[in-house]
Amino acid sequence: MAIVLSGRKFAKVVRLSLKKRVGQLEGPPPGLTVIMVGDDPASKVYVGAKERACKKVGFNSNVISLPLETSEEELLELVDSLNEDVSVHGILVQLPLPDHISVHRIASSVLPEKDVDGFHPVNVGKLWRGEEGLFPCTPSGIVALLKHHKIQMVGRNALIVGRSNIVGKPMAALLLRENCTVTIAHSRTTDLKELCAKADILVVAVGIAEMIKSDWVKSGSVVIDVGMNTDAHGKLVGDVDYEDVFDSCSAITPVPGGVGPLTIAFLLENTLKARVSALFGNR
Ligand code: GUN
Repeated sequence: MAIVLSGRKFAKVVRLSLKKRVGQLEGPPPGLTVIMVGDDPASKVYVGAKERACKKVGFNSNVISLPLETSEEELLELVDSLNEDVSVHGILVQLPLPDHISVHRIASSVLPEKDVDGFHPVNVGKLWRGEEGLFPCTPSGIVALLKHHKIQMVGRNALIVGRSNIVGKPMAALLLRENCTVTIAHSRTTDLKELCAKADILVVAVGIAEMIKSDWVKSGSVVIDVGMNTDAHGKLVGDVDYEDVFDSCSAITPVPGGVGPLTIAFLLENTLKARVSALFGNR
């Protein structure tokens, strides 16, 4: 029998706190600009949700939609102009980008102080060095959710399944900062089941529907499911078989309503952080 770690409920708490802090700000509200290239349907949904979330907490938000044929040069010029614009505190370039645009080059073009995704090499370096900075939203939300539920991290074995730059790698760095003993597994890992059996905290971000079953997880462990897949019936499911694993672990995030809502809540947190840094002239 597990406790359900509801990201939906926690995101509400975070939004209320954000609204209060925005109300106490002097000067203009935090401003987020989202750039979308092309019309990927999933990206449209995410970008719409980001815009609505900004409005709810009193942020200014602006979405710039560019055609699929936009060149890398044109996108870099746009990012440059937003870097210069003092009313823009956060810049997010929605992924995926078309193949002719380098994600790394774009991520490196956003001013680190406005990089609310935490993808710029300066912020990645700060994350691993244990410095203050802007860090990726989903892993930041997961650590905050664990803290909110007073889940002990110090000294515990954390296994992260997945090594993406958006979730897996920054998740490892953040859990290391919380003094977990961290292992990263990936598609070439040969003993995944054995590693899962030793994990006190298991974070799964692989994109394979219901891959993790009850006989994989350590009894009493904490299971964080970052997956968003559709099963054969078109139902949204995670990377963890929720029903099966529920009785084996001590805490688990559901899908939907688990990690998903945290990503946007922590994008707003990063935007407020960027705005406050600008206020104190850290830019
Ligand atoms: N596409 C899916 N997730 C993300 C994210 O966290 N940031 C950006 N920029 N694009 C995404």
